Amino acid sequence: MFTPNVISKFTTTPTPFYYYDLDVLKKTLQKVKDESAKYNFIVHYALKANANNEVLNMIREFGIGADCVSGNEVKKAVECKFDSKHIVFAGVGKSDIEINYALDQNIFCFNCESKEELEIINELATAKGKTAHVALRINPNVNANTHKYITTGLEENKFGINLWELEDVVKLLKGLSNIKLIGLHFHIGSQITDMSSFKSLCMKVNEIQNWFDSHKVQIENINVGGGLGVDYHDPDNNMIPDFETYFKLFNDFLELRPKQKVHFELGRALVAQCGTLVSKVLYIKKGVNTNFAILDAGMTELMRPALYQAYHKIENLSKSSNSTSHFKYDVVGPICESSDCFGKAVELPETLRGDLVALRTAGAYGEVMANGYNLRDKVKALYSE
Ligand code: LLP
Repeated sequence: MFTPNVISKFTTTPTPFYYYDLDVLKKTLQKVKDESAKYNFIVHYALKANANNEVLNMIREFGIGADCVSGNEVKKAVECKFDSKHIVFAGVGKSDIEINYALDQNIFCFNCESKEELEIINELATAKGKTAHVALRINPNVNANTHKYITTGLEENKFGINLWELEDVVKLLKGLSNIKLIGLHFHIGSQITDMSSFKSLCMKVNEIQNWFDSHKVQIENINVGGGLGVDYHDPDNNMIPDFETYFKLFNDFLELRPKQKVHFELGRALVAQCGTLVSKVLYIKKGVNTNFAILDAGMTELMRPALYQAYHKIENLSKSSNSTSHFKYDVVGPICESSDCFGKAVELPETLRGDLVALRTAGAYGEVMANGYNLRDKVKALYSE
């Protein structure tokens, strides 16, 4: 990934910046295409993971759809020429402006999260003389065994319609003339590495499908969301997530009805490994029990460690990893918060001011979550050739 040529380009680029290896992205997308095609599964990309234009354009070229969670994400997908028939719009708090915009674009489907939202979409669609296609986002109460901030499919989470509300929802839908129910939608969480969570989801989907059958409601589309995790600890050896096992599992355990289509909404698994945050060491400062390596990137450029105590592999690109003298550093950013720390007691070759440091596996929920706290500059991006 970091050939001498690439590193020499880094030395002449102002830091910090995100580096996207488009070759890694291409290989990942090819694998997703091949593995999902075995079962005619339909894949949408969750824009929330990374909405960088170059990244989006490549994803669209692979014929992948767009999963959006705000009006601006729908707009971005439209601008990047995703076919509106392949755009879905989820989110627990869609505003009227956002719904109207999505109705105007004739998107494939709204993933609806409450009875109240169904009523509003019906009202707005009626005013436009349109019929909105809707999937019910159901909270399946399945544990994703991941960080609590990125768990979404438990009853305690704000997402989706709870199972005990389904009876009422089905009754309500009968009176909503401008809504067409086309599917069921589920998403249990993110960075899921325990495949048994997905198996539990399949079992729950099967039960729920039986319930809909018994209520004589036909469902064309089953959307099982995203959530497939990536290897943050060993990116070089696990560059491409195990899509083969993942899609096979859904094929093995989902009990589908004739002609039913299965949809996925993957974010992280598609883009995490192609992105790296590249930064420069500003200072090495002696602490009481440790040395601080103070970088010119902070939690404003990559928020995951501060927000979720997330691990990102840290490498000194200016020193060979074979170098004999290794030291431990607390690798921190320049932001005025103690949580602005990328890693504690990180073992690195002797690190000096001016060294380039890579924070790996930063292609998902990295650039897109950057913010201007401390009036920081907007982080830039660099692409492989
Ligand atoms: N579909 C829905 C409805 C979602 O809420 C999400 C992610 C996805 C799909 C895509 O999930 P993925 O395949 O990327 O796991 N900022 C956090 C992750 C938040 C995920 C939110 N929802 C992080 O940095 O770990």
